[in-house]
Amino acid sequence: MNPKQLAGEKAVEFVKEGMTVGLGTGSTAYFSVKKIGELVQNGLRIKAVCTSQATHDLAVSLGIPIIKMRDAGHIDLTIDGADEVDPEGHGIKGRWGALLFEKIVAVNSEKNIWVVDESKIVKKLGKFPLPVEVIPFGHRQVLDHFVRLGFNPVLRIDEDKEFQTDSGNYIIHLHLGVIEDPLQLDRTIKQIPGVVEHGLFPGIVNKVIVANDNNIRILEFR
Ligand code: A5P
Repeated sequence: MNPKQLAGEKAVEFVKEGMTVGLGTGSTAYFSVKKIGELVQNGLRIKAVCTSQATHDLAVSLGIPIIKMRDAGHIDLTIDGADEVDPEGHGIKGRWGALLFEKIVAVNSEKNIWVVDESKIVKKLGKFPLPVEVIPFGHRQVLDHFVRLGFNPVLRIDEDKEFQTDSGNYIIHLHLGVIEDPLQLDRTIKQIPGVVEHGLFPGIVNKVIVANDNNIRILEFR
């Protein structure tokens, strides 16, 4: 089976009756959402909050009961993908531009599970470009700031125009190569006015389900 499907479906074993579940975004979380949809059609009763419009549309098409974030008092478990995961369980997320909603849902979840294929497991974060969500006003100045810091920023352009997130913001990718200190980098980026959020998720995940073609392993953190 496709490793993304293996990991994505395995995580759904942790979804229990009555839970409020955070639904992640991307090609691996897709399989979790599909599986949850199947269980819901077979009688499982849960509520879900979505981390993107794309996931919302998918969940609605599968008949999963969706609630708004403001109505989700307690989120029991969120299942999401990741772009890189290091041995401490720090990660980079956001390839699909959903990092802001993903982080808000993640930090407000009791437990977080990431579903990844083996290629996402790295010794050090940073080879994958780190997405940073910035408001359009002043984004040039934020970009220049990143240049001065030596972060090799590139504004994300899709089909000849600035990519816009579900919140109407832009994304700047930082080509860092290696991130020696994710916690320090988190602080450095956050203090720049105009930055809304970034795709570094330090110390958030509890379990990472890693799959290759024929095998699944589960990494436990915190
Ligand atoms: C969405 O913005 C991301 O955080 C994804 O969860 C992450 O990029 C992993 O995506 P794939 O599962 O498609 O590789």
